[in-house]
Amino acid sequence: MPLVTTGELVEGARAGAPGPVAVAAFNVITLEHAEAIAQGAEAAGRPAVLQISQNAVRFHGGRLGPVAAATAAVARASSARLALHLDHVDDVDLLRAAHPEGFGSVMFDASKLPYGDNVKATAAAVRWGHERGIWVEAELGRVGGKAGEPPLDAHAPGVRTDPAEAAAYVAETGVDALAVAVGSTHAMTERTAALDHALIARLREAVPVPLVLHGSSGVPDEELRRAVAAGMAKINVGTALNTAYTAAVRAFLTAHTAVDPRAYLASARDAMADTVARFLRVVS
Ligand code: G3H
Ligand code: ZN
Repeated sequence: MPLVTTGELVEGARAGAPGPVAVAAFNVITLEHAEAIAQGAEAAGRPAVLQISQNAVRFHGGRLGPVAAATAAVARASSARLALHLDHVDDVDLLRAAHPEGFGSVMFDASKLPYGDNVKATAAAVRWGHERGIWVEAELGRVGGKAGEPPLDAHAPGVRTDPAEAAAYVAETGVDALAVAVGSTHAMTERTAALDHALIARLREAVPVPLVLHGSSGVPDEELRRAVAAGMAKINVGTALNTAYTAAVRAFLTAHTAVDPRAYLASARDAMADTVARFLRVVS
């Protein structure tokens, strides 16, 4: 099926469903991740976003082209509705490569910059994206308390997005979606995060664009359901796939003396596909 865009999926999910649903986005590192996301989406009968982060591009020697082309080809060969998203980009050269590689959306991450610089850089990224039909997500990190102090990562434990500041940031930058800090933390391997549901509701009231939850691997199913019901529109999942992948490979190699990677990568891919399907059934 031809690629769809993240914007279409997010708007479609909000418009077409009887109850609140979100779009789940999963991180691609290897070809098996992409295949597993497609397989999981087909099994669950839900659309999904395949997202490639700047860190994943670094892992592939700084070359976006090969991993993007392979991921897009897997998505086009699937019967599921799948979108291609470039995630957590702060390198402007990489941002500009998104268009020729066929990405329909990017997350431009200037959250480590002081507020004024974040707004300026993000507004420029949004202008660039909108001239090319690209949906732009951004993240608002918390501004440090003192002049010259670096802002905190929005997903550091304890950090929260202020609704009034978030509304001003969206107005000043023109972003299409906003990642907010409401209690999740990147790279959790246990699902123990507790979200601030009252804050999600206040953000939903204050911010006129879809809200994005990052670090969703560490969020329990019921917390995810409540977050979606309160208005979270895009749910980003990465580490949970890697946890499933690594556990499957470890179990296989503990039990077998295989040297052909296809044997253990097949079990890793199936484990990731199960994880994808499970998250999709929870949030959409
Ligand atoms: O942007 C990607 C997500 O925030 C993934 O976070 O690896 O903690 O699930 P996670
Ligand atoms: Zn993230």
